[in-house]
Amino acid sequence: MGYQERIVFPISSSLDRISIGAKRPNADDVRIIGGRGYDLRQPIPIKYQAVRERFLNARNNFWTPNDIPMGEDKKQWLTGELTDAEMWLFKTNISYLTASDNLVPDNLDNAIIEHITASELRQYLRWQIAEEANHLESYLFILESFGLDEQGQGQIFNLYQEVPELTNKLNWNLQFTNNVVSSEAPVGSLEAHRNLLEDLVSYYVFEYLFFPIGFSQIFALAQAGKLRNTAQQYMYIYRDETSHAQNGLWMILQIIRENPILWNVAMQERSRAIINEAVALEAAYAKAVMPNGGVVGMSVATYIEFAQFMANSACRNLGLKLLFPVKSHPLPWMSHYELKQEVNFFEGRVQDYRTGSSLDWD
Ligand SMILES: [Fe+2]
Ligand SMILES: [Fe+2]
Repeated sequence: MGYQERIVFPISSSLDRISIGAKRPNADDVRIIGGRGYDLRQPIPIKYQAVRERFLNARNNFWTPNDIPMGEDKKQWLTGELTDAEMWLFKTNISYLTASDNLVPDNLDNAIIEHITASELRQYLRWQIAEEANHLESYLFILESFGLDEQGQGQIFNLYQEVPELTNKLNWNLQFTNNVVSSEAPVGSLEAHRNLLEDLVSYYVFEYLFFPIGFSQIFALAQAGKLRNTAQQYMYIYRDETSHAQNGLWMILQIIRENPILWNVAMQERSRAIINEAVALEAAYAKAVMPNGGVVGMSVATYIEFAQFMANSACRNLGLKLLFPVKSHPLPWMSHYELKQEVNFFEGRVQDYRTGSSLDWD
């Protein structure tokens, strides 16, 4: 069915009134975007079983920030064990990530979910929004646990509105969200779906590139014995973001499979350009947060190389030509911070959150 016909038969929307006697959807009709003629409140048929499994898996792995002890970091914070460069890196990091963990669910909420016409994917994305809220809680909990009052926390959180290189990365994502929201293209039209796909590529950049390399700054400090409790919080966030990125990639690829017309040469070039822009923003950001060239275990140059490595990997995942000549992973120790469900990197200090029964709800 062409795009024109789909405009004649309206795309299913969560704003549609429920009508008596409407037919139940048929799996052949269900699509990730542009599904039509069925009510979105129907949870079946489940066409994309893997997405439902991702939802169940995410729910089974829910964790809570206040179960991670923060005493060692608090001591380091209060006794001045962090150098000025490490302090600046940490402060800009947590400010930027906090704003990011607002932007990503806002993008889902304001722009993306309204276009999604598969119930199981809407379910997963709703759960993801809850996880992003939990990440925000983690950042708050970290600063609270250092003993900072509201004014002290506010000075740190506000840096994204003070350091242009932080602001630029965030505004870069907002332009894609706003393109979807403010477009006058009819829902389900080719233009609306092109805007959405561009937004999804920028969303994928956030989950797959901006977040992990942001976390790497704190993991570099942990490598040097600094802020290891904060690093534990970040390990859980990292695990969540990895799942979000996997789902995001799947979503993009499935949309392309179902709508090959969207993935023309121009869109492929545009996607590659978006990833390239992201690395340029990341390079400027690196210099602003590490003005002296880096900290122990992390130089500006290595950081930029890591961004390029992840950009190449994103290109490869999307079937695009690579952008940079980087061959090997510039920070091989990142794998130590990839939390598997049973692995406790910091010797028994992190509980196993796999099941609710292992949690201590006091
Ligand atoms: Fe997040
Ligand atoms: Fe995420």
